[in-house]
Amino acid sequence: MKHTDIYEVLAGGMLGKTVTVCGWVRTSRDSAAVAFLELADGTSFPRLQVVIDKNVLSPDPECFKCGASVSVSGEVVKAFKGDGVELNAREVSLLGKCPPEYPIQKKRTTLEFLRTVPHLRLRTNTFNAVFRVRSVAAQAVHRYFHERRYYYVNTPLITASDCEGAGEMFRVTAQSWNAKAASEEEFHKNDFFGRRAGLSVSGQLEGEVAAMAFSKIYTFGPSFRAEKSNTTRHLSEFWHIEPEVAFAELPDIIEIAEDMIKYLIRAVLEECPAEIDFFDAFMEKGLKDKLTHVLNSDFAVCTYTDAIALLQKADADFQFPVEWGCDLQTEHEKYLTEVHFKKPVFVTDYPKGIKSFYMKQNADGKTVAATDLLVPGIGEIIGCSEREADYDKLVSAMKERNMDLSAYKQYLDLRLFGSVPHSGFGLGFERFVMYVTGIDNIRDVTLFPRWVNNIM
Ligand code: 4AD
Ligand code: MG
Repeated sequence: MKHTDIYEVLAGGMLGKTVTVCGWVRTSRDSAAVAFLELADGTSFPRLQVVIDKNVLSPDPECFKCGASVSVSGEVVKAFKGDGVELNAREVSLLGKCPPEYPIQKKRTTLEFLRTVPHLRLRTNTFNAVFRVRSVAAQAVHRYFHERRYYYVNTPLITASDCEGAGEMFRVTAQSWNAKAASEEEFHKNDFFGRRAGLSVSGQLEGEVAAMAFSKIYTFGPSFRAEKSNTTRHLSEFWHIEPEVAFAELPDIIEIAEDMIKYLIRAVLEECPAEIDFFDAFMEKGLKDKLTHVLNSDFAVCTYTDAIALLQKADADFQFPVEWGCDLQTEHEKYLTEVHFKKPVFVTDYPKGIKSFYMKQNADGKTVAATDLLVPGIGEIIGCSEREADYDKLVSAMKERNMDLSAYKQYLDLRLFGSVPHSGFGLGFERFVMYVTGIDNIRDVTLFPRWVNNIM
């Protein structure tokens, strides 16, 4: 169908022209002589007002129903109110009617309710805005890396090795259950790949392979985790941005992570001003100031050991005890980033016992060169580390964790053939989108969120 996007009509420069637009009716108003339609096609935050002179036109009454799809031809004129434009209709055609059972009615509905209609909620202002921001941010991710000569690689989603070693892999099998199998190994011997396979929790291990050939690479794809965390920050399927950089040590990768986050925020502020104003008004008061403040400040850096000391001295009632060696709980992360530093903070050099096998072991014998970036309102948004580049040290870390070395032969080979210091990180894309929109539930920044006991 030949038509013009609403964003283009609203952008100005079309005054006096005759155009055809298509979209869904958000609201309508009627009076004796004129009727108005608010039309949205999803291409812009503001909607287009269509003015219908009832002395000239008498459109199908179905065209006025909330949710109906219509096409309208008419002349672009200066708006009666304000300095925008509106459309004087010459012809209004119904494309698809929308009966009153349509669950997305004009009155404000709750995010909880809208979660039950994921196939329709995108047409609301809020979700329309969230997913425009998400798309703009995704484009900015590619631009950021492309401009800096990182190569984009696509790592496998089906894998035989568990990157995080946390046993949170979904199994991939082509067999139906065979209760007669003597063992798990036996069961998978006859399986599609002849061995146990799963959905990847991270593209890092293969990303490292590519970084050892191209120096700078990134992945941007889905990761899967069968963790039963029923929280506002966890999904079973999330999108993961994972750069991997050769000849980079921990301070180098920290610099890159901060630079990238700021680049992405700047892109969203510049390209989605109307959306950010909307979120500032309805989702998180002060959002725009928060983001501007982040752009203008240096992120804090604090060792895990100092963070523990800070938490122990804190005037706060923590539910989980704080002692050196413990994993930081959400309440601790929130205290550090929201109360103490009041900005994003990199917590570095965690105890090796609570982190992954691949992280570079520090000379103290107790900690690893890893960092999590914590941000106010969310907590961990990035998991980052320098990788252990020494073959023997890596093997001993894997043995301590009782890992099956044979599943990691290629990964270990990287330490035998021209090993170099290298580092990388993983940014949870949904958590980033939450951060820049002020949406406080990860299920509301994902088209069809999956979490434990939930697949719609
Ligand atoms: O900290 P994680 O587990 O680190 C890794 O997977 C590394 N292999 C990354 C790397 O160094 N290449 O995960 C990285 C980030 C987290 O900080 C978080 O933002 C996000 O991924 N994330 C999740 N997001 C949504 N739902 C989940 N279940 C997530 N698990 C991790
Ligand atoms: Mg992590």
